[in-house]
Amino acid sequence: MKTLKAVILVGGEGTRLRPLTYSRPKPMVPVAGRPLLEHVIERLARYGVREVVLALGYLPDAIRAYFGDGSSLGIALSYEVEEKPLGTAGAVRRLLPSFDGSFLVLNGDILMEVDIAALVRRHHEKGAVATLTIHEVEDPRPFGLVEVDEEGRVVRFLEKPKQPPFPCRTVNSGLYVLEPEALSWVEEDVHRMFETDVFPSLLARREKVCSYLRSGPWRDIGTPSSYLAMNMEALGQEQGLRSGEGSRIHSSAEVKGPVLLGRGCRIEKDATLRGPVVLGDGCIVEEGARVERSVLWERVRVGRKAHVVDAVLADGVVIEPGVALPPGTVLGSGESALAATKSGQASSR
Ligand code: GTP
Repeated sequence: MKTLKAVILVGGEGTRLRPLTYSRPKPMVPVAGRPLLEHVIERLARYGVREVVLALGYLPDAIRAYFGDGSSLGIALSYEVEEKPLGTAGAVRRLLPSFDGSFLVLNGDILMEVDIAALVRRHHEKGAVATLTIHEVEDPRPFGLVEVDEEGRVVRFLEKPKQPPFPCRTVNSGLYVLEPEALSWVEEDVHRMFETDVFPSLLARREKVCSYLRSGPWRDIGTPSSYLAMNMEALGQEQGLRSGEGSRIHSSAEVKGPVLLGRGCRIEKDATLRGPVVLGDGCIVEEGARVERSVLWERVRVGRKAHVVDAVLADGVVIEPGVALPPGTVLGSGESALAATKSGQASSR
C-alpha cells in the first residue's frame, strides 16, 4: 500500500463531555490509563499509517506537549491549529494543498478496528471521490444514517432519524478515504461539516461516494456514559490487578479485577476495589472506602467509608468521608463531594 497521510480531527470542544473537558481536551482523556488519542494513533500505526496531521483547536498545547513529533509512537506527527473552529470539513479543507493524492480523515474520539489496506483498495477499485466506513447498529436514532445501494454506493444521508421505520441501519463510523476533489470546490476558511454539508453536497453534485462496511466493536466517547463504557471495555480484556510503580495496597483490602492502578496510589485498610476500575497516578482510597466500575483520574481522594460506583472523577477530586455518590456521578477537576445532607445524598461544589 502506498503510504497515506491521515488527518485526525481533534479540534472540538467536547461540550457533551463537560465537566471533564474543562481541564483536558477530549483526545487527552484517559482510557485504561493512557490518552484516548494515543490508542487511536497506535491503531493507525498498526495498520501501516506513518504520517499523521492533528487538526487542533480547543486546548491544543496539552496535546502537542504530550505527543511531540510522534517518534515515540513510530509515526511522523504534525499539527494544524484553527484560530476559530472550522468544522470537520473546514479543518481538512485548509490542509488540502499538502495532499497530492488520496488521504484518510478520522474523528479522533472513536475506538474501532478497520482494515485500512482493504478500505483503501475498495476506494480505488470503485473509483470513488470519497469512501466512508460504515457499520450496522440496532438503534440508529443517535447516529447519522448512510443509505447505500447493493453495490455499496451511497444514495442518501439522514441525520439522527426520529422514529422507525428506518430506511437502513448503517451509520457513519467516522473514518473516510478522500480524493482532493472531494473538497477542492469547498470555500476556504468557512465552517463546514462533512456529515451535514460536504457529503450531501457531493451526492447532489452526482459525485461517486462509496462505503466500506466494517464489523467489530465501535465506541465513541461523546458522553460521560460512553466514556465510562469505553474504559470498561478496554479493561474487560485484562484480568486481575495491574499496578504502577510505588503503589501500595493494604493486605486487608479486597481487590477484584480487572483493576488498573497508576503510580503512587494508596489503597488503605479494608478498602474495596471491584473492577473494572481505573485509578490514575497518586489516587488514595481511604480505610473502608469502596470503588466499583469507575474511572478516577490523577490525585483523587476517596475518603473513609465513602462509596464510588459507576463514576468518573477528574484530577484532584475529593470525596469526603462517608459520602455515597449517586451512581453515574461525573465530577470535573478539583470538585469535591460532601456528606452534607442528612438524607445521605451527596452534594458537590
Ligand atoms: P461535542 O461538543 O460534545 O459535540 O463534541 P465535539 O466538539 O468533539 O464534536 P463531535 O463529537 O461532533 O466531533 C467529532 C470529532 O470531530 C471530534 O474528534 C472533534 O474533536 C472533531 N471536531 C469537531 N469540530 C471540529 C472543528 O471545528 N475543528 C476540528 N479540527 N475538529 C473538530
